[in-house]
Amino acid sequence: MVRKAQVYDRFADVYDRSMRPLERWGLARLRALALSEAATALTEGGRLLEVGAGTGGNFAFYPEGVRAACVEPSYEMIVRAQGKPGRPAGSLLVRSFAEALPFADGAFDAAVATLVFCSVESPADGLRELRRVVRAGGRVVLLEHVRPRGLLGYAFDALSLVTVPLMEDHFNRHTADEARRAGLEVLKVENYLRGIVQLIVCRVG
Ligand SMILES: C[S@@+](CC[C@H](N)C(=O)[O-])C[C@H]1O[C@@H](n2cnc3c(N)ncnc32)[C@H](O)[C@@H]1O
Repeated sequence: MVRKAQVYDRFADVYDRSMRPLERWGLARLRALALSEAATALTEGGRLLEVGAGTGGNFAFYPEGVRAACVEPSYEMIVRAQGKPGRPAGSLLVRSFAEALPFADGAFDAAVATLVFCSVESPADGLRELRRVVRAGGRVVLLEHVRPRGLLGYAFDALSLVTVPLMEDHFNRHTADEARRAGLEVLKVENYLRGIVQLIVCRVG
């Protein structure tokens, strides 16, 4: 897991710049959508968890007045998130991994992760942890690039042979299935960009 944090330490400087075309292409809109789905489980003064918060690319879409804990393993990414303009006042940055969250059971109303479960070493452990720390009836919202159906899926299998050793990025994960296996109730899966990106909305039972 330590190696993973180091991978993103190396990308931290260029991360926001390299994501800009994708943000304009539709990612920013999908971030807003993911956060609005998570917000439906937030009561007054609600508690939100973001895992793999990176440089804080979702901060602009956090609901007004939310109390948030933002977990991120890479020190360099956290430094950028800390200085991000518009970082919500009530947000706490925590250096940790999705697979071992330092929070009590049911501590949050909702959790969100965007473009994270492609990198997490054990999606099964990470998703089980999200299920544990979100209260019953709360939401877990994932915006992830996944293995698309059809021929493109095989291309993504091949791509992963390069991206996994290079940057620990899996392009062929079945994240919605992983969420189900982790005991989350998958309420909906919306496909974007030819099914390469999915918005996966789950409920904790
Ligand atoms: C592609 S970046 C996405 C960052 C941000 N969520 C966004 O949407 O811009 C993947 C992030 O996941 C983090 N990450 C990798 N493994 C992780 C793990 N096991 N637990 C939590 N975060 C992890 C990386 O450090 C990195 O910041």
